[in-house]
Amino acid sequence: MKKKILVTRKLLKENEDKLKELFDVKLNQNDELYSPEKILELSKDCDGILSAITDKFDENLINKLSPSVKIIANFAVGFGNIDIQAAKKKNIIVTNTPEVLDDATADITILLLLGASRKVLEARRAAEKQDWTWSANFLLGKQMSNKKLGILGMGRIGRAVAKRARGFGMEIHYHNRNQLSKELEEGAIYHPSIKDLFKQSDFLSINCPATKETNKLINKETINYLPKNPVVANAARGDIIDDEAMIEALKSKRVFALGLDVYNGEPKIHPEYLKLDNIFLLPHLGSATKRTRWDMGYRATENLENFFKSGKPKDKVN
Ligand code: GLV
Repeated sequence: MKKKILVTRKLLKENEDKLKELFDVKLNQNDELYSPEKILELSKDCDGILSAITDKFDENLINKLSPSVKIIANFAVGFGNIDIQAAKKKNIIVTNTPEVLDDATADITILLLLGASRKVLEARRAAEKQDWTWSANFLLGKQMSNKKLGILGMGRIGRAVAKRARGFGMEIHYHNRNQLSKELEEGAIYHPSIKDLFKQSDFLSINCPATKETNKLINKETINYLPKNPVVANAARGDIIDDEAMIEALKSKRVFALGLDVYNGEPKIHPEYLKLDNIFLLPHLGSATKRTRWDMGYRATENLENFFKSGKPKDKVN
């Protein structure tokens, strides 16, 4: 008999077709954002759940899940939306979708750095108004080429960002929990402390996971380690930045510009960010290409399939 799977969000048709072939699936045709109560109700007779970052599987929800639910396959590389320890205690395996979204997310990171440094928001507003005139001093940005790029979190996405930034002639610096092998570093300079990394970062790219340790890691104190007027981009998770401190730094121009794809409490965005000009905002588009979403869907499906076949999904995170 086919295993029963709750799929909490609408996926690409190709992914849903594959899921239907392998499992007895409950799809979300209207792409409704399910409440925890609805997830509990819909999953009560299910063997697994294919979840998305918009679902908050906290301890309370996990503890109330039916004992039949044995796996939560998250449709994302990040899994901060799931209390993986609570899941482990309940013998629920959690998986993610690494690798397949590295390129798309690294592309978006470069877009954030460029969008912020070249004043794309102000430029768009000026172009729309059609009352601009070319002048030698009009909307001058900061040049990325040949500057130093600091990468916070040199995992697969951080390394894909480094690869692109080398094309701009940037010198790559990074901080990570552990130093990479020479082969993976490809000439990037390791800094064992955040302070040393930030001191070198004309441009700073945040590509680390959201953990207790990285929560509000970009704060009043650490922003002041950065050189004069840096450009900062966050394509990782909103809670890595202390918004109040960043807003103050943007207002005073201590930070030249900020590019954001992710937010604390998204889809809400801190209202002060929306009033600023030196910011470039995107609505969490890191992995938003058809190719990548397609691959993420297959990867999550494969994790479910392997779990029910062998108990060993490739991307187990707890
Ligand atoms: C997107 O934010 C992801 O974690 O996949």
